[in-house]
Amino acid sequence: MKLQVLAILLAEAALCFASPLAGHSLRGRQDLPSEFDSDPSSGFDDPTIDIADPSFATAVQAGYQGPFASYEKHELIGPVDLLRNGHVNYGVNPNFTMPLYRGLSAANTTYWWIVTDTSDEGNGKQLGLNFAPKLRFAAQGLTSGGIKAAEQLEIVNNTVCGRQGMVEFSPVRSIVPGDSSPFPPKFVQPGSVGDSNYTPLIQITNAGYEVWNAPIIAGDVDEDYLNQFCDGIPADRLTEFRSKVHDQVLSICPRDEVVTLATIRGFSFSKSVLYLIADGSDPLPATLDGGTYAPRLAAVKTGDDDALFSGIERFFVNTNGYANRDLPPGAPNNETHHPWRQGLSSAILGDGNPLNILGAIPSVAYDYSPLWDFNLFAWTNYSIENGIRTRLTGEFEVLGMAAAGYVTNPDGTPLSDAGIVNNCPIVHRFL
Ligand SMILES: *[C@@H]1O[C@H](CO)[C@@H](O)[C@H](O)[C@H]1NC(C)=O
Ligand SMILES: *[C@@H]1O[C@H](CO)[C@@H](O)[C@H](O)[C@H]1NC(C)=O
Ligand SMILES: *[C@@H]1O[C@H](CO)[C@@H](O)[C@H](O)[C@H]1NC(C)=O
Ligand SMILES: *[C@@H]1O[C@H](CO)[C@@H](O)[C@H](O)[C@H]1NC(C)=O
Ligand SMILES: *[C@@H]1O[C@H](CO)[C@@H](O)[C@H](O)[C@H]1NC(C)=O
Repeated sequence: MKLQVLAILLAEAALCFASPLAGHSLRGRQDLPSEFDSDPSSGFDDPTIDIADPSFATAVQAGYQGPFASYEKHELIGPVDLLRNGHVNYGVNPNFTMPLYRGLSAANTTYWWIVTDTSDEGNGKQLGLNFAPKLRFAAQGLTSGGIKAAEQLEIVNNTVCGRQGMVEFSPVRSIVPGDSSPFPPKFVQPGSVGDSNYTPLIQITNAGYEVWNAPIIAGDVDEDYLNQFCDGIPADRLTEFRSKVHDQVLSICPRDEVVTLATIRGFSFSKSVLYLIADGSDPLPATLDGGTYAPRLAAVKTGDDDALFSGIERFFVNTNGYANRDLPPGAPNNETHHPWRQGLSSAILGDGNPLNILGAIPSVAYDYSPLWDFNLFAWTNYSIENGIRTRLTGEFEVLGMAAAGYVTNPDGTPLSDAGIVNNCPIVHRFL
């Protein structure tokens, strides 16, 4: 089922959040240069990102080629399912079906959650979760005795009890592009907002103090209500559904104990990858990506990359790459996708996801963390005016461009950590 595109709604009561990235004033809808497309499956039908059939431009059919080397060894070239507690549904817009858990909060209310990563390698293998040892460090706080990025809980009767942090799903997600350029936007409203206790990270104090990535994806909603959406969300019920459930959920089924989430396409070391969006420590990425704004994630220390005790992995987000509207007329096959499309401006203009660049993912490196430390990068005027701007697909490409001075922070200063963390568990590697 194709989801209807959600219109940008400027609710009078919409909350504003302090954001290092976004302004605060509201504008009328008629002023918008273009429309943000909040459909999580938007932007996928792009032949410049899709992996071409390996037999393309050869004399043989695909079936005549041997199997991918990754079938033998995961670190070699070829597709690899990384998150294995569910399955990817392939199609133009791949999505991921995984186990759905019911929880009882400290206040005795129901909530619905998923699990994607663990700091325990053995449990990770056993349950098909991503192994992320850095979560042990991410779980700590910035000050001694201060708020920790993980909520500490115990397992009782095979489930976690007493979770305090909860998420409000009622806000309507919206974004208003900036005047002179879409980024930075003038206004953002995430579609779900965690309270001050909410964090996707839970640390189990009576089971080895391991840390689990366990985002909440629906609040106190009745099982019978959710069971109406086992096969997807009818267009006429989308607004209502989104006010109760995480924006990335495409179908949810307590009866079968599964949920299907949209996947997002990005790149890691020039490999095309799929990941999930769960939460963000800043309202802008949380809004753009359809995640939950989780202020408590700001307790995760950023900036230390792979150093001792670092909990994060770097994530490169472009702000001013090409958008589809930059494609000159006369493209082959009436193509409408700019082949170098990338970045937040393009995403805000409705082209689809920003095609972010992830650092390490499991199977090619040991330093994966689902908590991605934003490094925002912008092409300089020189790069834009002289045709140097392009699509980057690997961390070291970005770092090389930054070292040479072709990309900088959005304010023109040398590339640095933006102090923002997004919780985006990896799902699949295409190559
Ligand atoms: C998941 O993706 C598959 C393949 O694109 C599609 O057929 C299916 O409808 C999607 N599921 C939902 C719930 O959107
Ligand atoms: C939660 O519910 C249980 C059983 O219904 C009850 O025994 C307990 O006192 C309740 N706790 C709170 C905090 O309301
Ligand atoms: C343990 O959980 C099961 C459901 O999984 C429930 O039926 C049972 O009553 C629980 N036991 C106690 C002592 O709460
Ligand atoms: C491109 O669009 C034009 C005008 O709609 C149409 O006549 C032409 O057949 C299209 N070409 C291709 C290759 O689709
Ligand atoms: C870059 O170009 C923009 C738009 O033309 C201009 O506003 C800005 O001042 C330029 N920046 C620098 C550092 O020259």
